[in-house]
Amino acid sequence: MHKKRVFSGVQPTGNLHLGNYLGAMKKFVSLQDEFECIYCIVDLHAITNKQDPEELRKNVLETIASFIAVGLDPVKNIIFNQASVSAHSELAWVFNCVARIGWMNRMTQFKEKAGINKENASVGLLVYPNLMAADILLYKATHVPVGEDQKQHLELTRDIAKKFNNDFKSENYFPIVEPLISKEIPRVMSLRDGKKKMSKSEDSDQSRINLKDSKDLINQKIKKAKTDNNSIPSDINGLKNRHEASNLISIYASVNNIKVSEVLNEFGGKNFSTFKSKLVESVVEKICPIGEKITKLLKDENNLNEILENGVKNADLIATKHLKEIYKILGLTKFT
Ligand code: TYM
Repeated sequence: MHKKRVFSGVQPTGNLHLGNYLGAMKKFVSLQDEFECIYCIVDLHAITNKQDPEELRKNVLETIASFIAVGLDPVKNIIFNQASVSAHSELAWVFNCVARIGWMNRMTQFKEKAGINKENASVGLLVYPNLMAADILLYKATHVPVGEDQKQHLELTRDIAKKFNNDFKSENYFPIVEPLISKEIPRVMSLRDGKKKMSKSEDSDQSRINLKDSKDLINQKIKKAKTDNNSIPSDINGLKNRHEASNLISIYASVNNIKVSEVLNEFGGKNFSTFKSKLVESVVEKICPIGEKITKLLKDENNLNEILENGVKNADLIATKHLKEIYKILGLTKFT
């Protein structure tokens, strides 16, 4: 039996949004009292697409500030950046040799991100899921809170763990991870198109609510969010094929920690303008204090760097120990 340990990561690509918060970070916070948790700023993942070096440095600090601002305790949890713990890259190489090319070719996120010009995407983008598996398995994490968009990558992580355990006769060495995906809101969708996920790479800023958006901007974005001409249903079946309506109602439920059915009980039969005013109130109440805290924390870079350095030390202790075991299983010699 493996000890219960949580691991998750967020890319430092700027503009963390409501999707990141409701889909993942809110769960990070609720897990910290129950489990040993490790939360990573995955800067090596970010460079699979070209990054401006100065922006990347700033975005790492902004991501750590966001972790603290949403309520993660840097003493209780290990919070660190991936590039500082070199065992991530070393294990990713091992997994490049365990995973099969056919497995990589099935990854839908690669297809989406590479777009039509697949030949021109970085090799890193293709093997990105192996680095993600390395992030998780390096700590022998058992539970991974993520949004639904990461589910396929976690299935791949399970396949890699099984193949490694099997190929090297190390039964049960790596745990078979369990994804923790919100039931209420597995995917927060764009405010402009209820079939697309809310994303930092979407061109229109109107499609998302960023953690640092002001009250006025949140109000304007929600008021302009796409809906349909029908009123809010009283029953969950009435949301079928109403992607935008469904999304706004799920956001309201998640922000207020209630069930979708409770939202429908409250608003069933009402029109969207009444509902949207309430939604603005709830989102502003939840998000604006986080945004203000991020801005405040960013004023003290030394403090943020100290938190990271401390996290790096703790992460590195576990990572180095496990990498040694893994190299030994593989028959690799490492004289350090
Ligand atoms: P990233 O940086 O794109 O997103 C961070 C987390 O936010 C979730 N998320 C969403 N959830 C619901 N609705 C949305 N619209 C939405 N947008 C983003 C993501 O699912 C994720 O949980 N590959 C990962 C980072 C990563 C990782 C890991 C995660 C690297 N190594 C190991 C877990 C474990 C990514 O790009 O997430």
